[in-house]
Amino acid sequence: MKVLIVGKGGREHALAWKSAQSSLVSEVFVAPGNAGMVQDATLVDIAETDAVALANWAEANDIDVTIIGPEASLVAGVADEFNRRNLLVWGPSAKAAQIESSKDFSKQMMVKYGAPTAHSQSFTDSQMAKAYVGEIGLPIVIKADGLAAGKGVVIPETLEEAFATIEDMLEGNRFGDAGACILIEEMLVGEEFSLMCFVHNGQVIPMVMAQDHKRAYDNDEGPNTGGMGAYAPTFKADSDEVATAVKTIMQPIVDGLAKEGTPYTGFLYGGLFLTAEGFKVIEFNARFGDPEAQIILPLLKTDFIEIIHGLLTGKALPAVEWHDQYAIGVVLAAEGYPDAPQLGYPLNKPVINGIDELVFYAGVKAEKSGDSEVLLSNGGRILLNVAIADDFKSAYDKVYQTMEALKVPHTFYRSDIGHKQFKRQS
Ligand code: AMP
Ligand code: GLY
Repeated sequence: MKVLIVGKGGREHALAWKSAQSSLVSEVFVAPGNAGMVQDATLVDIAETDAVALANWAEANDIDVTIIGPEASLVAGVADEFNRRNLLVWGPSAKAAQIESSKDFSKQMMVKYGAPTAHSQSFTDSQMAKAYVGEIGLPIVIKADGLAAGKGVVIPETLEEAFATIEDMLEGNRFGDAGACILIEEMLVGEEFSLMCFVHNGQVIPMVMAQDHKRAYDNDEGPNTGGMGAYAPTFKADSDEVATAVKTIMQPIVDGLAKEGTPYTGFLYGGLFLTAEGFKVIEFNARFGDPEAQIILPLLKTDFIEIIHGLLTGKALPAVEWHDQYAIGVVLAAEGYPDAPQLGYPLNKPVINGIDELVFYAGVKAEKSGDSEVLLSNGGRILLNVAIADDFKSAYDKVYQTMEALKVPHTFYRSDIGHKQFKRQS
């Protein structure tokens, strides 16, 4: 089979790497991909949001299955275009992807189909929003309805800050249409986890549960980012915790989307809080998490493409199995990320790419230097190193040895990825 991955980040590198390992696959392409992926896939120079060009290319090149990585592609209707042409595609329609792209729609679905979540009210009028906050007081979380590149969530520390945020979003037009509606939400207390599932035709197959680290700096300080590092499993795929989260949260939403006439296909990501009352969902993403993909996919024992192709074509599925190991990944980020990353610095040659250590590239580009090419940093999240081991401590020690050896100027990384796992284990 020929597989096309759509996207250009670390998640797409991991999807391409995993696809290339499938016994069913002869060739892997990534559109547009990045210069760090060329060992695992052939790059195709088409933008991830150009639905028509992607479908034209897939048709002309006899692609057997296309896997969509980023949300921007889903919102741009890439899956819709492929489905219109009867091309096999893994990823939801733009309508079903609203479970991520509209926080208001997503919250309505959680409430209607009974998935436990934070209490929330939506507002388009700033006077009413402020009156509501005056009534309920802090702590609260204020969220722009639409996509705001990770910056649409504010946890105000004072009422003044809350009012200013509301005005900024609803009157100041800070996020354009994405901020024309806001949600004011109860603040949940508990540890945060990511649960990814394969979803098709109402079937929900959970993966190992992971933990991401969204703040830029150690001890969960600093601005929110796409994710600075992750590890898995926090709970195994066949654990009671995962079964409960599927039963109470993931399955009801998948069934609900089908009932609403927008059936879901693709990876479905639940952002979960484990509270004193059990798991609650704070958001859904219509895609694999990044960096969760880079640490979950190496743990998958069953043939990845056999699962996806099998689900899409209705073939008998193999049992989905996981290695009894731990994976941990740490992001190397450009100084200034997420606000103003400094780019263009040469990277050291990757030191690793073995069985139990991997590197997945995100913000990089190639530049000619004499006869050879060097990789330069070209994005906020540059790369992610992964270590895999039978016990968590060994994986942790190994990944940090590699990070320390990297020494790329004007970069940084978090030194506490996985510390919560040590606490939970002790
Ligand atoms: P989101 O963009 O919805 O993923 O939110 C970004 C981050 O804000 C989440 O990863 C949480 O850490 C935090 N957050 C969002 N909603 C809540 C909530 N209701 N209670 C506590 N923390 C929240
Ligand atoms: N790592 C969080 C996300 O992909 O949204």
